[in-house]
Amino acid sequence: MASNLKSAKKLMVFLGKSMIAFLETMIFIIIPRPRKNVAGEIVLITGSGSGLGRFLALKFAHLGSVLVLWDINEEGNEDTCRMVREAGAPRVYAYTCDCSQKENVYRVAEQVKKEVGDVSILINNAGIVTGKSFLDCPDELLEKAFDVNFKAHLWTYKSFLPAMIANEHGHLVCISSLAGLTGINKLADYCASKFAAFGFAESVFIETMAQKLKGIKTTIVCPFLMKTGMFEGCSTV
Ligand SMILES: NC(=O)c1ccc[n+]([C@@H]2O[C@H](COP(=O)([O-])OP(=O)(O)OC[C@H]3O[C@@H](n4cnc5c(N)ncnc54)[C@H](O)[C@@H]3O)[C@@H](O)[C@H]2O)c1
Repeated sequence: MASNLKSAKKLMVFLGKSMIAFLETMIFIIIPRPRKNVAGEIVLITGSGSGLGRFLALKFAHLGSVLVLWDINEEGNEDTCRMVREAGAPRVYAYTCDCSQKENVYRVAEQVKKEVGDVSILINNAGIVTGKSFLDCPDELLEKAFDVNFKAHLWTYKSFLPAMIANEHGHLVCISSLAGLTGINKLADYCASKFAAFGFAESVFIETMAQKLKGIKTTIVCPFLMKTGMFEGCSTV
């Protein structure tokens, strides 16, 4: 009987909190939240040499952020760098970095700290897709998907989170995917790596709450299909 009452109480609390969250969402749809001012923030975007990374770089340039662009593709990244400069970013720095290589990330991160300063917004966006059935996918490609889509996030957080904590100012952004929320045919490695990225980013968020860290924001983005070329020819039907 006592345990039934306890369960009922927990259910009521859950329903009450859900109702408050729902009302809050409705209110913020009608009265939009004030936008965060990112002018002057040092924004690092991985995978900035094309697609979503380039798009985000241009958006931040328009908003007056200092941009740090990382990509394994030097040419694409230089193109983004030029576009961002033309779009009016106060300062932009491009680095060739293979985010799947821990030592590479740590080395380039040190360079950024010396040459640019403390990164205050970190956007883990670099990603790859193999698009093969699990058994047809060679081991090295399965591992690569994890190295780029998930493990790179560990190394970048390790590099830049300590200064954010010390400065009580920072924002960690994880570009996961809809595939980080559900399984998809021929995307076993991609989905697993995106689930991992999601779980990691959410756990770091919980840690920041549990440790009562001040000024650290976190965001997880789970995009649906975007026309960047990554999922060329894919459709939902
Ligand atoms: N395109 C979509 O429909 C879609 C949907 C959901 C999520 N996403 C995610 O959004 C992010 C951006 O994807 P996109 O569509 O712009 O793809 P994209 O292929 O256009 O861009 C990915 C970028 O990451 C870079 N990159 C790849 N491996 C790297 C490495 N080892 N080190 C550094 N950079 C590396 C590439 O050179 C490229 O510039 C990815 O994480 C992707 O998984 C994309």
